[in-house]
Amino acid sequence: MDNSSQRPDPPTDAAVRVAELRLILTEHNGAYYSGSPTIPDADYDQLVRELRRLEGENPQLADEGSPTETVGAPATFDPVAHAVPMTSLDNAMDRDELDAWNDRVSRVLEDAGVAERRYVCELKFDGLAISIRYENGRYVQAATRGDGRVGEDVTANVATITDVPEQLSGDFPEVLEVRGEVYMPVSTFDALNKRMLADGRPVFANPRNTAAGSLRQKNSEVTARRKLRFWSYGLGETVGPLEPETALEMFERLGSLGLPINPEISSFVAIADVHEFCRRWQEQRHNPDYEIDGVVVKLDSLDQRDLLGFTSRAPRWAIAFKFPPEEKTTLLRDISVSIGRTGRATPFAMLEPVFVGGSTVGVATLHNEDQVRLKDVRPGDTVIVRKAGDVIPEVVGPVLADRPSASQVWRFPQECPRCSTRLVRSEGDANTFCPNRTCASRVEQGLAHFAGRGAMDIEGLGERTVAALVDSGMVADVADLYALSHDDVLSLEGFAETSANNLLASIDASRDSPLRKVLIGLGIEHMGPTASEALARRFRTVHAIVEASVDELAAIDGIGPTIAASVANFFADEINKATVAKLGEFGVRLDRVDVAEVEQILAGKSVVVTGTVEGFSRDDAKSAIKDRGGKAPGSVSKNTFALVVGEGAGASKLTKAESLGVPMLDAAGFIHVLETGDLPVEPG
Ligand code: IVH
Repeated sequence: MDNSSQRPDPPTDAAVRVAELRLILTEHNGAYYSGSPTIPDADYDQLVRELRRLEGENPQLADEGSPTETVGAPATFDPVAHAVPMTSLDNAMDRDELDAWNDRVSRVLEDAGVAERRYVCELKFDGLAISIRYENGRYVQAATRGDGRVGEDVTANVATITDVPEQLSGDFPEVLEVRGEVYMPVSTFDALNKRMLADGRPVFANPRNTAAGSLRQKNSEVTARRKLRFWSYGLGETVGPLEPETALEMFERLGSLGLPINPEISSFVAIADVHEFCRRWQEQRHNPDYEIDGVVVKLDSLDQRDLLGFTSRAPRWAIAFKFPPEEKTTLLRDISVSIGRTGRATPFAMLEPVFVGGSTVGVATLHNEDQVRLKDVRPGDTVIVRKAGDVIPEVVGPVLADRPSASQVWRFPQECPRCSTRLVRSEGDANTFCPNRTCASRVEQGLAHFAGRGAMDIEGLGERTVAALVDSGMVADVADLYALSHDDVLSLEGFAETSANNLLASIDASRDSPLRKVLIGLGIEHMGPTASEALARRFRTVHAIVEASVDELAAIDGIGPTIAASVANFFADEINKATVAKLGEFGVRLDRVDVAEVEQILAGKSVVVTGTVEGFSRDDAKSAIKDRGGKAPGSVSKNTFALVVGEGAGASKLTKAESLGVPMLDAAGFIHVLETGDLPVEPG
C-alpha cells in the first residue's frame, strides 16, 4: 500500500525556523510586558524582522497567534494618560508580613483617633489591569496600566469582552473610570491550547500571558475569539455623584451599573478572619475557573484610606497576600524515556529538584515526542516548572535567554532504553511504543498495575519486589505470580520467612478478587471502575466477555464504542487469552460478581445532564450521578459542578453554563467524573 500521500510533509527549514522564532519572541514578549526584557531591543527587532520576512515568503505558515501580529504593537496603540495614576500593590509573602502591615495600618488609624476599622478581602486575579472609561454611561475608552501614568489605548479590543457593558444601566455618574482585571478563564485557555496542540502549533504558556497577548492584537476579531473576561475592583477618575464611603458600597454601586463584581469578596474586622480567608483561598486556589495568585486586603473605609495615603509605588491601605508560586525555574539535567505497561514510551525531564506548588519536584513528564519538539527543551536548559494543585508537575518551556550556547536539540531515542527493541510510532499517533511484549519494563509495569489497590490489591508487591521477580525470570506475566513457591520468594533479596509468608498469603487472597477488579488488573486500555463493573454485572464471567461481540459490548450502559473495541481487541489477542486461561488454571476466580459498594464521591455536588450522553440512557446518566451521592437537577445554576453535554443538548443550558463559568463535559469527561468525583484536567 502506498502511504506516502497520507504522511504529512516533513517540516521545511523555514517552518522550523518560524516555529523557533515564534517561541523565542513569545517568551521575550512575556518578559518585556512584565517589565523585565531579556534581550537588547536591537536583537529583538532583528528577530522580528527575520520572522516577518519568513512569514512573507511562506504565506502557508501564517498564524494569527504569531508574535508578528502583536510585536511592534506599542507603536500602534495610542498612549492614554491616566487622570488618576494606576498604582501597584505591595506584597506580603507570609502571615508575619501581613501582620506587620496590619500593625502599621492600626497605628496610623489609632494616631488619627480612629477606633474602628474593617478590611475587605478580594481575590487577586492573575490577569492584567485595565482602566475603562464611561462618559454619560457610554463606554468610551479602555487603557492598559502601562507605567501607571500613561497606558495604551486598547478600546477596540476591550470592547469585545462581553462582561464589559457598552452602556451602563441605572443611575450612572457623568464620568466613571472603573478599574479591574482582564483575564482568560482556565477552561478557555485549556480549550485554546487543545486546539493549538491538535493543529501541531506551540501551546500558550499560561492564561495570564495569553490574555495579555490577546489584548494586544491588532485585529480585535482575534481578541473577540479569545473570550476574555473582566472583574472590577476599583475606581479611577469619577465626575458626578457616585460617592461611596466604603469599598463595599462601591462594589454595590458598580454592580448596580451593570459592571461585573467578583462574588467572593468578603469583609472582616478581626485580622484572624483575614488570615483564615487567605488560608482558605490558598487551599482552594484552583476551584474558580480563573487563576488567582493571592488575596488583596484593603481598608474598607475610603476616608480611612486617605489617612494612610500612598508610597511612591503603592497604596499603604492595601496589601497583596501572595500565594507561594506554582511556577519556578530550575535546571533540566537530562531527558529520559520510561516504558509503561502498554509499551508507551514517555519522555520525562530529570530536574535539579525544586520546591514548587507545595512539594519538591525532581521529575516532570514531557508527555510525548511532539511535546518535547514543540517546547524545544534541551538538557542543560533552565526550564520553567509548573505544579498546580494536584496536577502532575509539568515543564512549561525553556528560558531561552539562559540557554547554553553549545546546547543540542534533544532527539527521541530510536530504541527501547530497557530492551533495545526498535521503538515504533504509527502515523497519526502522538505516542511512541516499545512493541516488545516481553520487555522487562512493560512486564514490571503490568505487574505493578495488576497488584495495585484498584485492581487485585496484593500487598507487599512493591516496585523493588516486582523488579526482582522479573529480573530473576520467575515471573513473565501476571499469572506467574500464582505459581510462586515459598522458596522462590525467599530467594529474593530482602525477603525472610515472615515477609515471604505475608506476600504469598496476599497473593493467595487475591485469587478471590471480584471479576470487576480482575478486569482492571488485566490492563485493558480505557478500562476504569465504571466500565469494569458494568461488564462484570452484565456478563458475569471472563469467558462470556471473551465471547461477546463488539456490538454486544457497546450495548451496555457506561460502555462506549471506544471501550467496547478495546475490550474486543484485548481478548482477540492470543497472548492475552493465554494469560487469562493461565490465571484460571492457577485458581484465580474469574466469575465472582460482587455488589460493589459505590463510593459517595459526588456527595454535595450537582451535575446537570443535557441531551443524550453516549453510552447512557437519560435515566441511567442521572442514576449514575445519584448512586454516587450527587444531585442531578434539571437546570444549571452557579452551584452546578458540571454540565454534561450529550447529543441534542439544550442551548439555554449551554449558554447559562458558559455565562456562569460552569465546566462542560462530554461523555469521556462524564465518565471521569463518575470514576473520580473530580473534573478532568482538561474539561471535555
Ligand atoms: S487593587 C491601588 N485588587 O494586582 C490598588 N488589584 O500587584 C490597585 N490585581 O496591578 C490594585 N486582583 O493588576 C487590586 N482584587 C484586586 C486585584 C488586583 C488583581 C492586580 C492588579 C494590580 C496588581 C498589583
